[in-house]
Amino acid sequence: MSVERSADRITVTIIQHGVRHQLHVKRGDNLLMAMVRAKFPVEYMCTTGKCTTCRMLMEVPPESAAPASETERYRLGAPAVEQGYRLACQLYVEGPLTVCLPDQPN
Ligand code: FES
Repeated sequence: MSVERSADRITVTIIQHGVRHQLHVKRGDNLLMAMVRAKFPVEYMCTTGKCTTCRMLMEVPPESAAPASETERYRLGAPAVEQGYRLACQLYVEGPLTVCLPDQPN
């Protein structure tokens, strides 16, 4: 019996200037690197969770990624995390989620 490989593909919805785009990623892909590969205009510097340049507002269902890490909570602050901000470089995609790109750079 063959395994349907497309089941490993996950759709990330990216809202940019009010327009919804779909990005298909592999389970476990790093969100920031997937967006960079797809040429979305994302800013980043460290990729280690320190600079917060990759801060983005997201809707992440509980099964779609691990909760915000200690690093994210420390760097972003608990109020921002509660509002839905995450660091894209620290998020590994496990299920569908939605990202709102800022209209202006962070
Ligand atoms: S790129 Fe620096 S925190 Fe994500």
